[in-house]
Amino acid sequence: MAAPSSALQSVYDGRLKVDGTDPVFNDWRDDLVRDGYAVIKGAIPRDRALGYADKMLALAESFGLGYDRNDRDSVHPDKLPVINEKGMLLHYAAPHEDFVWGVRSEAGVVGAFEKVFNTEDLIVSFDAINYGFSNRTCMPSNKPWPHQDQDPAKPGFRCLQGLVNLLPNGPNDGGLIVCKGGHLLSEEFHKDMIDEERIPAWTPEWYGYTEAGMKWLEGKGLEWVKVEAEPGDLLVWDSRTPHYNVPAKETQDRLAIYTCYMPVADVSQEDLLRKKDAFEKRLGTTHWPNARHVGTNTAKRNGGDDIVTRDRPLNEPVLSERGFKLTGIPYIKAN
Ligand SMILES: [Fe+2]
Repeated sequence: MAAPSSALQSVYDGRLKVDGTDPVFNDWRDDLVRDGYAVIKGAIPRDRALGYADKMLALAESFGLGYDRNDRDSVHPDKLPVINEKGMLLHYAAPHEDFVWGVRSEAGVVGAFEKVFNTEDLIVSFDAINYGFSNRTCMPSNKPWPHQDQDPAKPGFRCLQGLVNLLPNGPNDGGLIVCKGGHLLSEEFHKDMIDEERIPAWTPEWYGYTEAGMKWLEGKGLEWVKVEAEPGDLLVWDSRTPHYNVPAKETQDRLAIYTCYMPVADVSQEDLLRKKDAFEKRLGTTHWPNARHVGTNTAKRNGGDDIVTRDRPLNEPVLSERGFKLTGIPYIKAN
């Protein structure tokens, strides 16, 4: 890691604070601190990223429901496993497919989080993968849901979210949109908007911006930016940064794998045991690596359980030593 070079070095203990006191690094960390998001170019070599994209499309085809990457008309809910309106495939053990673990274990991806947290002892989320199909006419519409993924009652930098982009992703190709710089105004926002009625959420770690909230951000002169990326680029954002994803407008699909890591030192043994159970059952989690919420492999389709089921991945992961550490299992202490 490059030596920090700032007069504020005395408060820096190697772990980013994202509060204006961090040193200058002359790399993407400066973007993250200033803007609340950053792009790490080439975290995965382009050819390998395109290989992961190929496997991700093959997974969608493997259900045998009719989806074919060469037939744009096959982008239809009846021909695909259940993918939500935001593009997320959450079930069918998909978060544990071999290629998903391959992406999570990539040195350039996990290495970025090592730089932020100043440790190699990290665990990774078992989060969803995202299919942003370009031909969405038959798919449920994806309306904006600007939000931050953090409880307003727990301020400060707590979580760095990430996604690896697998296909060319330009201004019209859908994907992540962020409110640049909104992370640093989060506390002020919540003080000013304390009386604003909350948009209902299933977890306190999610805050949705109302119309008045969006006006507040606009009044501060903040702009929304559609993040652009090449295959293999890693996008990271502070959970306080307002964000959502937008649908593709042209013919280029968007494929992404969510990757979020946190230091093992920040989680309890109980968290690690719950995470181990999720791993062994090949269940997904949210972006929180401590597996606070564990999902199910059974999707809901048309109001009932999907008859298409899969409780193990199409291709089981073969974990590297590093990949296995990221499950958290090696950090569980014997009783
Ligand atoms: Fe989010």
